[in-house]
Amino acid sequence: MKVMVVGGGGREHAIIKRIKENPTVECVYAVPGNGGMAKDAILVDIPAKDIDGITRFAKEQGIDYAIVAPDDPLVLGCVDMLEAAGIPCFGPNKRAAIIEGSKAFAKDLMKRAGIPTAAYETFDDVDDALNYIKNAPIPIVIKADGLALGKGVIIAESREEAFETIKEIMEGHKFGASGDKIVIEEFLTGPEVSVLAFTDGNIVVPMVSSMDHKRIGNGDTGPNTGGMGTIAPNPYYTEEIAKECMEKIFIPTMNAMNAENRKFKGCLYFGLMLTKDGPKVIEYNCRFGDPETQVVLPLLNGDLLTIMRAVTNERLADARVEFKDSHACCVICASKGYPLEYEKGFEITMDESVEPYVYMAGAKLDPKGALVTNGGRVLGVTAVAGSLEAAIDMAYARASCVHFENKYLRTDIGAKALKAGLSK
Ligand code: AMP
Ligand code: GLY
Repeated sequence: MKVMVVGGGGREHAIIKRIKENPTVECVYAVPGNGGMAKDAILVDIPAKDIDGITRFAKEQGIDYAIVAPDDPLVLGCVDMLEAAGIPCFGPNKRAAIIEGSKAFAKDLMKRAGIPTAAYETFDDVDDALNYIKNAPIPIVIKADGLALGKGVIIAESREEAFETIKEIMEGHKFGASGDKIVIEEFLTGPEVSVLAFTDGNIVVPMVSSMDHKRIGNGDTGPNTGGMGTIAPNPYYTEEIAKECMEKIFIPTMNAMNAENRKFKGCLYFGLMLTKDGPKVIEYNCRFGDPETQVVLPLLNGDLLTIMRAVTNERLADARVEFKDSHACCVICASKGYPLEYEKGFEITMDESVEPYVYMAGAKLDPKGALVTNGGRVLGVTAVAGSLEAAIDMAYARASCVHFENKYLRTDIGAKALKAGLSK
């Protein structure tokens, strides 16, 4: 089988490494992938958003199966185009991907279906939004409706900041057309949990839970990033809470999408907050999370490609989806300065022994064939062990075997989870 994976980050590298275990896979094309994956996939220089180019390539190459991983191509309708060309895909079509593509859509869906989430109002007029803020409780959360590279959520700690933020988004077009509409929502508190779930529109099968670390600095300080590390399972997510989420959130979400003729097939990501009033949905993503995937897939028992194809064929109930009774930790090695300004082009070297555990993201091959840094989040190093503590120690030991100038990493990935786990 010829498999194509659309996307180019650590998440895609983790997916590629797992699907290659299936003996029917002859070759994997990564579109566009990154230079760090060159040993695992054939790189195809087409941007992930160029869905016409991707479809043309897939037809020409006779791709048998496509996995579309990032939000942009999914929301743009990449799966619709590939399917129209006769190529079976893993990932939701455009009608279903709107669950991530429009936060206003997601909030209205939850309201209609009675799914617990933060109270909210939607605005497409800047004066109405500013008026609303005059009497709103502070802090307050302001979200651009559309995709914004994970940066479209602002927690305003003062009324002035809220006014400024709304003006920047709606008048200053900080996030382009993604901010023509905004959602203003209640500020919630509690531990956060990421749950990725396979769904074929008939059943929902949650994967092992995980915890992201979004802030750049130790102790969850500094600006938000794409994610600086993850651990799985998330100790806050007990069996009891999992059961409640299944009943009140996961199944109702699938049913609500079906009822609107938006059957979701793929990986549905539930960003949850465990509030004192129970679990609530903070966000939906229409795809695998990054870097959640880098800890969830190493814990998967069985064959990822078989599960994905079962989702495509709406036969997920027949697939075996089980997870190891172990723990995983992923530490992101970033370029110093990220998420603001940083330099690129430094050579990356690592001990051969850690290569299998490294998922490459912001890396490329330079003209001489050397692997060099090419982004903010350069790579992730993962470890699986019998305890969370051992997984954390092993991930950090491996991360110390990866070298590049200006390497930055958080030194406390998993520390909060370790404390929470011990206090139980
Ligand atoms: P997102 O970009 O949707 O993942 O949101 C980024 C982060 O903002 C989340 O992981 C939460 O930490 C925070 N956040 C989003 N919505 C809320 C909310 N209603 N209350 C408190 N924090 C929130
Ligand atoms: N780790 C958060 C995301 O993938 O959106």
